Amino acid sequence: MTRIIACANLKGGEGKTTIARHLAYHAASRGLKTLAVDLDPQGNLTDSLMPEGEGTYTQSSGLFESGFSHAKLHLAESDRNLSLLPADARLDTLAEIPGSRSAFVQRVRANLRAIADFDVIVVDTPTNAPICYLAGLAAADGAVSPVQMDVYGISGAVRLTQAIQRVRAHYNPRLIHIGFVVNRFNSRAASHAQLLEQFRAKRLRLLSTVLRERVAVQDALGRRMPVWRGPRGRVNTRAAREMRALCAEVLAGVGL
Ligand SMILES: Nc1ncnc2c1ncn2[C@@H]1O[C@H](COP(=O)(O)OP(=O)(O)OP(=O)(O)O)[C@@H](O)[C@H]1O
Ligand SMILES: [Mg+2]
Repeated sequence: MTRIIACANLKGGEGKTTIARHLAYHAASRGLKTLAVDLDPQGNLTDSLMPEGEGTYTQSSGLFESGFSHAKLHLAESDRNLSLLPADARLDTLAEIPGSRSAFVQRVRANLRAIADFDVIVVDTPTNAPICYLAGLAAADGAVSPVQMDVYGISGAVRLTQAIQRVRAHYNPRLIHIGFVVNRFNSRAASHAQLLEQFRAKRLRLLSTVLRERVAVQDALGRRMPVWRGPRGRVNTRAAREMRALCAEVLAGVGL
């Protein structure tokens, strides 16, 4: 059975694409046949996994159409178990197409759920394109949400929790919120510790792995590799260990 995981948060820049990318690499390295789906018109996941640019591959805006077929998927060069459904410019125009938003969302849910030849589908969702993030959440078995320890991050987390409840009510009653992941944590910042306490007090679901602020995460993005892969001496083992631990925790959240 295919498991679909959406990376989602209503606040931008919290680390959704970073986590989506690592989840996809991690699942593929475990031998799971993995499809990374970029539903963000910004196309950051696409840029990081498919740097050679557009080809004649199936694109993610096709998910919003009936008769979607994923016959021509881009296979990542680095990992034979990893394929990509890249973002394309048409995602930006969806809001302008007449028709009910709910019909679009339902169509993506049906199209993604009909893809049966993968073990895991990881969906990266945007912040500023409601049709796209709703579609990702409507299709998913589980959602994971990075959050940074600042005041805005916490209010964004509360909004997301409410949005997930609405998605459950309208589209996807079985959606599991796997949890929030504290990202870019700095144990030397007193404010981070205080905000983490406030976050816990809100009783929002929090994963046990905490991702710290790591230059290694930025460097790995520059290499277009996961943080655990790189030339000898360039891999930060602590950053690698915590990212692997997070990915394992998220997959376990959907029974993998
Ligand atoms: N733990 C970390 N340590 C250092 N840098 C990080 C960490 N996590 C993410 N970043 C960096 O923060 C930036 C934003 O992360 P990312 O693109 O994953 O966020 P996002 O939620 O997908 O943003 P958007 O809302 O624009 O889609 C990127 O440059 C990324 O490399
Ligand atoms: Mg992103």
